[in-house]
Amino acid sequence: MNRLIRQNYSLLAASILILGQTATAQDAAPAFFGGPDDVSYAEKLWDSLESNQLVGTSAINVFPFAGNQPHGAIQQVLDKKIEVDGKVSRVIVKRNHGGENISVKSIYSDPVSNLKAVTVMVKREAGYDSDNLDWFWAKYTPVGDLGKNPKGTLLAGRIGKNASAGCIACHRAIGGDDLETLTEK
Ligand code: HEC
Repeated sequence: MNRLIRQNYSLLAASILILGQTATAQDAAPAFFGGPDDVSYAEKLWDSLESNQLVGTSAINVFPFAGNQPHGAIQQVLDKKIEVDGKVSRVIVKRNHGGENISVKSIYSDPVSNLKAVTVMVKREAGYDSDNLDWFWAKYTPVGDLGKNPKGTLLAGRIGKNASAGCIACHRAIGGDDLETLTEK
């Protein structure tokens, strides 16, 4: 009887130790996205995308195509080198359209009304995220506000790094060598 209680106690102690360690590890986890530097870069990025007519109401129209979740049912992608924060960088901009009865034709005629989100990848300087080819990831509303995850963290930076979900996690699984799916096009 006593031995059983002792065993149970040591089991309990072990679980408390494990739980305690998990909590500490989470507290100490570096902020891979949504920090002040990433948010300020994302703001400069949007301004630059807008002045290069890659987003916004006067964005250059391109041929739409049917895509998959989590991106829109109909998408438009633009791939360009532009200056962001004083450095010329490659950007890939995806406009995600959704809604009832939309088609490639309807989105081409009206690329604004059904736009749900704009997702962007930018090739940053070497060392920004050397594990993941130095891509910066961001998700905006159609008017350029940053999206948030369920915890309220702004979606800008190394989203989904070392995680099981999020931009990097999914693109590592489905993307090519450079984490983008465009290479074959
Ligand atoms: C669950 C998987 C998944 C997640 C999460 C995801 N993507 Fe994608 N992404 C895709 C797929 C698949 C494509 C190819 C187009 C398609 O079929 O929808 C794609 C394409 C893209 C493209 C166009 C360039 C390319 O690689 O084809 C960009 C830009 C992009 N995603 C950005 C993002 C950003 C930014 C996030 C996070 C906010 C994100 N993605 C999250 C699956 C994902």
